[in-house]
Amino acid sequence: MSQVPENIHTTFDQLLNRNDKEQLLKQHALCVWFTGLSGSGKTTIAKGVERELYQRGYLTQVLDGDNIRSGINNNLGFSETDRLENIRRIAEVTKLFINSGVITLNCFVSPTEDLRILAREVIGNDDFVEVYVNAPFAVCEDRDVKGLYKKARAGEIKNFTGLDAPFEAPANATLEIRTDEMTIEQSVQAVVELLLPKIQLEAKH
Ligand code: ADX
Repeated sequence: MSQVPENIHTTFDQLLNRNDKEQLLKQHALCVWFTGLSGSGKTTIAKGVERELYQRGYLTQVLDGDNIRSGINNNLGFSETDRLENIRRIAEVTKLFINSGVITLNCFVSPTEDLRILAREVIGNDDFVEVYVNAPFAVCEDRDVKGLYKKARAGEIKNFTGLDAPFEAPANATLEIRTDEMTIEQSVQAVVELLLPKIQLEAKH
């Protein structure tokens, strides 16, 4: 390798930028931010979307309570302050994925506008697609997939979203999915149709 002239500062580590990686992966990266009550169907839909996109050659990463609250955020609870820190860290992690060209599918209750605005600001408006996964509280309680509603009703869980902690319906969602009215397949298709034009690189047309 030739000598680098004096006072020239090379930045080899910066040679590969987001655009290079997007070209490699042949996709445009972004974050789909699913918000909704516990049990509304966020992760179920995201996993379906992931499978559909994988079949079309797109690389994704699902981020949800399972892989975030059990690891990087395992020191956080559900107070207002902890939820804010939860979302802030998630948004920073998301940015790293996006800068590597990866499409992230984020499934977090993120119950207030402030939390979602924070996520949008950190990730960047252009890379942030908000999807409201909406099922009435009574339906989520009836499903009670994880048995948490029962525990919350019994007073064993405090600050439970929709019960003794607020959920604010999003004002800026690009898409709203009523999971009590649509099948999982229909919900997945709605998200995939929304995403395809946004993640395709010009070169792919
Ligand atoms: S957020 O409010 O900080 O965005 P997050 O999506 O990470 O929440 O975690 C919510 C998940 O944690 C729920 O789906 C549920 O399984 C579980 N959980 C445990 N305690 C609570 C609680 N008090 N409120 C809401 N969800 C809870």
